[in-house]
Amino acid sequence: MKLSKRLQACLNYTRKFNNLADIGTDHALLPIEAVKEGYVYKAQAIDNKYGPFLRATKNVKAYDLKDKIKVKLGDGLEKIEADTDVAVVSGLGGSTMRDILLAKANLSLKRIILNANNNPYQVRAILSQIDYHIIDELVIKEAGKYYFLIVLEPSFTPLTKQEVLFGPVNLKEKTHFFKEYYKKELKNYESILTQIEQAKDKKPIQQQITEIKEVLS
Ligand SMILES: C[S@@+](CC[C@H](N)C(=O)[O-])C[C@H]1O[C@@H](n2cnc3c(N)ncnc32)[C@H](O)[C@@H]1O
Repeated sequence: MKLSKRLQACLNYTRKFNNLADIGTDHALLPIEAVKEGYVYKAQAIDNKYGPFLRATKNVKAYDLKDKIKVKLGDGLEKIEADTDVAVVSGLGGSTMRDILLAKANLSLKRIILNANNNPYQVRAILSQIDYHIIDELVIKEAGKYYFLIVLEPSFTPLTKQEVLFGPVNLKEKTHFFKEYYKKELKNYESILTQIEQAKDKKPIQQQITEIKEVLS
């Protein structure tokens, strides 16, 4: 089985943990690979929709991993086992990820690996509430789309407004795809600006443009 670049990036951060929960698992590709290749000892493949739940069940059976991977129908982190030490949430938007993290009281995960397909700042903005900090980040490009990997571990470290918007590790590293993504965003905002007539409506867009230019300079 060959994982997508996105899922492989998530998998790399599960190494040496014991019990993985993959939230929004769909085909259960990530937990199957994680257990099969020995990244983790056991896993839970969790999805909140019946179609993906059935697909995951079928795949886990096909790989003969029913003893090691539990497939569950559940919303977010609500059904994770007490000894879960690492969770992956991949392929969802930043605001859904934020809601999933805020819905679970007393998160005791040693690591949380997020791969958002938009609005990653929504997650960074609530880190004080869940008491986690960012240990790594990466902007990934796959099939022409950008994804935002954010890896969290316990205890909060304060972030500046700019770090919440762009990511503290992204700002330090300014990788190729990070710059490419924000150059495109800049062009989008500049094009939107030309279509707005009222000065008051231009302000928030001008603010975004200033913030992006500052980071790209
Ligand atoms: C685009 S797929 C991502 C599949 C895989 N994780 C990946 O990154 O390739 C998103 C999956 O998340 C599931 N999902 C959406 N919201 C969820 C939630 N609150 N809890 C659990 N699963 C959710 C959907 O049913 C869908 O199967």
